[in-house]
Amino acid sequence: MKPSVVVFQSLSDEQKVRLEQHVDAFYFLDRDARRSETCQQALAQADGILTPGGYVLNESKLAGMPHLKAVSTISVGYDSYDVAALTQRRIVLTHTPGVLDDSVADLVLTLMLSTARRVVELDEWVRQGHWQKGLPVAQFGCDVHHKTLGIIGLGRIGMAVAQRAHHGFSMPILYHTRHAKPDAESRFAARQVELNELLEQSDFVVMLVPLTQETHHMIGKDQLAAMKRSAIFINAARGDVVDEQALTQALQNRAIAAAGLDVFHQEPIPLDSPLLSLKNVITLPHIGSATMQTRNAMVDLAISNLIQALTHDSLINCVNPQVQRQI
Ligand code: DGY
Repeated sequence: MKPSVVVFQSLSDEQKVRLEQHVDAFYFLDRDARRSETCQQALAQADGILTPGGYVLNESKLAGMPHLKAVSTISVGYDSYDVAALTQRRIVLTHTPGVLDDSVADLVLTLMLSTARRVVELDEWVRQGHWQKGLPVAQFGCDVHHKTLGIIGLGRIGMAVAQRAHHGFSMPILYHTRHAKPDAESRFAARQVELNELLEQSDFVVMLVPLTQETHHMIGKDQLAAMKRSAIFINAARGDVVDEQALTQALQNRAIAAAGLDVFHQEPIPLDSPLLSLKNVITLPHIGSATMQTRNAMVDLAISNLIQALTHDSLINCVNPQVQRQI
């Protein structure tokens, strides 16, 4: 008998064929379908789950999934999963690193450029008919090239950002990580510094750390106060790596110049969030990896990860490989 898999992601015909060669798939693609009794019954029988990122899987949900052996998330981040609970139940969790690095790095550069050059604000200004003469000096932006970039969390995506910034925009690179990155030092002349030094010296501060207990609110009131008043803060990691209230205040008081945000404490961001009324903030709906090509590649990889996990071959892209030894 083939393993039974609950699928929360719509798939192309080719992807369906590939998946269904190995498993019996049951699709629940919208919110109502996922909340249905049929879905709960399918989960109670499921050996595997294939899901977009952000699916919350904790102890209480797992109690209703006694047969579950593998979860494949279509994301690199896996902070919504209780990994300890999964591991304890010998459930493999796989994710999709690597295939999204360039797209997320492109988006980080997009946020840097569009906040610095005030692209969204000035587009609005043109559409509202304010472009009568030249641009008032008060609405000039600031340069990106040759400015100092501070990257907090220099993993694969950070390296792709540093590559673009250093070689494309002649930016000196500072980084803050637990371990030194000799590769970044030789390729981009990047310098590892303490967090405070990075905050004090950077013109752009980019957050790329995963959300963990250690990185939760890593940037708060004190860290924002340490940044230059002209600094631009970019978050393409997870909303909760920054204290959003402190960030809002810093932006309202112009303690920092601007922010480009792809991620938020609550997603979708509530419409009454004060961040949405600030001109010096660009907000995006968590689109780091949202290009046709990259999302397709992520789904392809997540399918491979799941098939691999359920057929007990060697695991790929596994977050908790210690489970493998117990299978
Ligand atoms: C992920 O895959 O975790 C990222 O948030 C994509 O944007």
